Amino acid sequence: MRKKIIAGNWKMNKTPKEALELVKILKDKVDTDKSDVVFCVPFVDIIPVAEALKDTNIAVGAQNMCFEDSGAYTGEISADMLLDIGVKYVIIGHSERRQYFNETDKNVNKKVLKAIEKGLTPIVCVGETLEQREKCVTVDFVRIQVKSALKDVTAEQAGNIVIAYEPIWAIGTGVTATSEQAEEVCSAIRKVIAEIYDLDTADKIRIQYGGSVNGSNAGELFGMSDIDGGLVGGASLKEDFINIVNYQE
Ligand code: PGA
Repeated sequence: MRKKIIAGNWKMNKTPKEALELVKILKDKVDTDKSDVVFCVPFVDIIPVAEALKDTNIAVGAQNMCFEDSGAYTGEISADMLLDIGVKYVIIGHSERRQYFNETDKNVNKKVLKAIEKGLTPIVCVGETLEQREKCVTVDFVRIQVKSALKDVTAEQAGNIVIAYEPIWAIGTGVTATSEQAEEVCSAIRKVIAEIYDLDTADKIRIQYGGSVNGSNAGELFGMSDIDGGLVGGASLKEDFINIVNYQE
């Protein structure tokens, strides 16, 4: 049985002071028994948020990292830096990074390999545009993204990573994929994992849905057999995140 994993992606929101105010509201109210819970916060918020969460089971995640160990990469943050301040998860290849910061499939793969090598759990984001969905190429496109992100990742390593299926048309738009649409792609992702590796690995890997998840739709989405939780943007900045984590099927 896969344990659900629900991660808040705070994106570029909350100063350290504001972050602590939000953590205070959420931390004792989210149920960490039923699901693993992660707050993926801006880099500058990591140290204070990790400190504020130290007596809880909520993990801290980052939203990006560099694929190199260290050196002349101005403006970048390394896996070792993140590990040193208590980070356990890192979002890799979010569509906003692919769209606005030229993140390529190749770089996503390099970051995934580096995160795994260092012992961080990558949350690898994939998902189609509205145009691709309308052309009925969603599954083909997502399969390519998954294969390319996992190049040179072993079966054992793949079993521990998290994949987030986030249709771009559903991110921040208030338009959520229906539970059937989300399940169709999440199950296709599990199938491609089984093809690359084996059924055991496909059964282990956790696949989240992301895109306008809120307290009212979380239960139905997370109740689907191939959806193992969510990556939540806008609603992770509000008290509604408590309803999402404490969802009822
Ligand atoms: P949203 O964002 O929940 O605001 O749609 C999800 C994400 O981008 O991870």
